[in-house]
Amino acid sequence: MYVCLCHGITDKDIREAVAGGATRMSEIKRTLKASTQCGSCAMQTAAVLRDELAKI
Ligand code: FES
Repeated sequence: MYVCLCHGITDKDIREAVAGGATRMSEIKRTLKASTQCGSCAMQTAAVLRDELAKI
């Protein structure tokens, strides 16, 4: 599902970033650009990040 419409980022993209070593929102923003334009996806992006980090 799309999380960040501004940049076309899906929850899978965020989960893959975590698998690649990302652990912080700043890393998700830098690598995927999620939540770097309108910002309306920030809560959802953080929720997917937290969910994925809880699995490791
Ligand atoms: Fe993610 Fe706009 S929807 S920055």
